[in-house]
Amino acid sequence: MPFNTANPATYDLLMNRRSVKAKDMVGPGPDRTAMEKILSAGMRVPDHGKLNPWRFIVLEGTDREKLGDLIAEGLVKEDERDPKIAEKMKGYASQGPVLVVAISCLNPAHKVPLMEQELSIGAACQNILVAATALGYASQWLTGWAAYSKTVADGLGVGANEKIAGFLFFGHQDREPTERPRAVEAEHITWGFPG
Ligand SMILES: Cc1cc2nc3c(=O)[nH]c(=O)nc-3n(C[C@H](O)[C@H](O)[C@H](O)COP(=O)(O)O)c2cc1C
Repeated sequence: MPFNTANPATYDLLMNRRSVKAKDMVGPGPDRTAMEKILSAGMRVPDHGKLNPWRFIVLEGTDREKLGDLIAEGLVKEDERDPKIAEKMKGYASQGPVLVVAISCLNPAHKVPLMEQELSIGAACQNILVAATALGYASQWLTGWAAYSKTVADGLGVGANEKIAGFLFFGHQDREPTERPRAVEAEHITWGFPG
């Protein structure tokens, strides 16, 4: 495949991609073949030092419930949350038909600064969302309490130099999402050398 072929439709997709709330998603989610394509796109991103500082765990069906169990356990253990409330949070992981736990695998000894390594997994996650949209799937990148829980990290085998960068949910939308306020471009862009 030639590189960098002009594709105006891709620009349109970037301009109309919109997250769909995971709790509003309906099935089916991407099957294995579609998920492999989506994740391949996630691994074609700028990555200083060719570190590939990421890995992805794909969860669907009852595997999502195992994550839900971990979240509830963590909420009680780490956050002293009422077990009944924690029980309700089990549903977090089953919001969309398929979810991918995106994990940044950091190398603190490498000369590439950690921030650059983390930016790379951010790029990977964004490519994944764009690829999913291109293939007709709804997606949403969530973090929240579970992304920072030691119980959840340990249960998923997240190592000492790893971090959960997000839970990426996939499914379909059954209605058009509404737009949200967007950055006022003039407040974020200046032209020419400062001063
Ligand atoms: C690292 C990261 C974590 C996020 N976590 C949450 C979250 O926990 N809850 C939430 O409502 N939105 C979260 N978002 C924002 C949504 O994924 C989404 O980007 C936002 O609603 C804007 O929608 P858009 O993707 O259509 O621009 C997160 C975004 C990023 C980049």
